[in-house]
Amino acid sequence: MDDLREKWLAAVAGAGDEAALEAVRVAALGKKGEISAQMRELGRMTPEERKEAGPRLNALKDEINAAIAAKKTALADAALEERLRTEWLDVTLPARPQRMGTVHPIAQVTEEVTAIFADLGFSVAEGPQVESDWHNFDALNIPGHHPARAEMDTFYMARPEGDTRPPHVLRTHTSPVQIRSMEAAGAPLRVICPGRVYRADYDQTHTPMFHQVEGLAIDRDISMANLKWVLEEFVKAFFEVDAVELRFRASHFPFTEPSAEVDIRCSWQGGTLKVGEGDDWLEILGSGMVHPKVLAAGNIDPAAWQGFAFGMGIDRIAMLKYGIPDLRAFFESDLRWLRHYGFASLDVPTLHRGLSR
Ligand code: DAH
Repeated sequence: MDDLREKWLAAVAGAGDEAALEAVRVAALGKKGEISAQMRELGRMTPEERKEAGPRLNALKDEINAAIAAKKTALADAALEERLRTEWLDVTLPARPQRMGTVHPIAQVTEEVTAIFADLGFSVAEGPQVESDWHNFDALNIPGHHPARAEMDTFYMARPEGDTRPPHVLRTHTSPVQIRSMEAAGAPLRVICPGRVYRADYDQTHTPMFHQVEGLAIDRDISMANLKWVLEEFVKAFFEVDAVELRFRASHFPFTEPSAEVDIRCSWQGGTLKVGEGDDWLEILGSGMVHPKVLAAGNIDPAAWQGFAFGMGIDRIAMLKYGIPDLRAFFESDLRWLRHYGFASLDVPTLHRGLSR
């Protein structure tokens, strides 16, 4: 009995992992194990022998079971210790900065403009870049013979031979989204429509594709005063200054009556633009009261509703705000340019945190 005890306790102690320990358990206490065989021997003993050997054998069985359980816990603890030791990592190390690309100035400025007008209660509307001749021109009171059509340097889409309908165009401005918004939502209405527009033109300040944002507000008693206030709020917020002065110059657009071009007071002293002070004027947009024919084209009753509209070049205000000299570089995908003028990808412009910070 003592030999048995010594042999199996040593085997338990010597088991190096859970599999070895299980093999020891089976060899000692399993159905065909050595100690189980001894238990069966009890049946062949005399009552006196059994009285003596039975309790001792049971005690041995319990002792080995307990030793196995203790060893099992010890092995698991050791395995955990080993994992903790080898999988250790230093969470106090500084993170490695990873370049995630930058936000293009056009995307940044579009976000800025959207944040400002959203705060004034305007929602964002979009329209197709391949636009019908009617939406791009006629509905905006630019009939076929109108000189504005010729001035727009329009790109026309192809029509199959024999198809005499007017061809679609690459929209020359975002103004057709005014019509689509009126058709879709009716009055009252407050939207801005940022997006790409196209004209056949190319020099330092013109590219064949560029960006505009249209604004449209329609209600029962909207006036030029509302337009002026909204634009002042916009310019102050966009150029991040406390005060601005706007100048409304009488102008002409087919889709507004009256029409005005809007300049802001600025200075170019030292070669950098300062908005709100100085003796220069900077033209930033066209605007006016929506022409009754345009309201009617959008299925809105001009006797009951009126509104203001404006259209602004996003690329142009981006160049002004961020001091970018050449428009063409915007679309050349030069990585050095993008890294220099781009914005951090996780810095979403908001009014409360600052637009361009
Ligand atoms: N659509 C004009 C252009 O592309 C800009 C414009 C002027 C839009 C006056 C307007 C507006 O909505 O009222 O040059």
